[in-house]
Amino acid sequence: MHTGLESPKGVWWKPAHRSEKVWFSLAFGWCIVLFAMMPLWHWKGGQNPAGTRSRVDPAAFAARTQEFIETYQVGEENGFPIVEPPPGSDVYLLGRMWSWSPILKLRKGAEYTLHISSADVNHGFSLYPINVNFQVVPGYDYALKVTPSEAGDFRVICNEFCGIGHHIMLGRVIVTDEEGNLAVAEGESTEVSVP
Ligand code: CUA
Repeated sequence: MHTGLESPKGVWWKPAHRSEKVWFSLAFGWCIVLFAMMPLWHWKGGQNPAGTRSRVDPAAFAARTQEFIETYQVGEENGFPIVEPPPGSDVYLLGRMWSWSPILKLRKGAEYTLHISSADVNHGFSLYPINVNFQVVPGYDYALKVTPSEAGDFRVICNEFCGIGHHIMLGRVIVTDEEGNLAVAEGESTEVSVP
């Protein structure tokens, strides 16, 4: 009778075949490469940019966003203010069930400090069609140094499930060229329905 603590008698195992050892070495090497990629992406790849995250009272953030809107508002679309802050300024974007406010009009090549926060639950800031994703957490102000590198008309999509209206939570960021002109390709519509 054998217990798990005693080896059974005889040769019950075979040495690993050479090809198995080779595969194991390759797999282990690849694990190490992927592991090393995480810090590399952080330091070299421009991934996980180090934002300054600080605690903020959601009501205070909403009030600050409102002040920002009143200071720099240049228009309105479907009831949402369009705000064009000067280059170098602090920019506020508030996510809430189920909207992003305001519509931002930024300039290519200018640096801004983008403050993102939520008034209620977790949302996901996703800039479409560019691969930019951030968690938007109530009670925290995520301040990011951003320099738009491409002119265009972008959508902000919520990529964190936040309730029944999650799929309609759509915002807009317009990036003008260096002269402040809208660079929209011929025949392309600038119309967008922001619910
Ligand atoms: Cu906000 Cu999903």
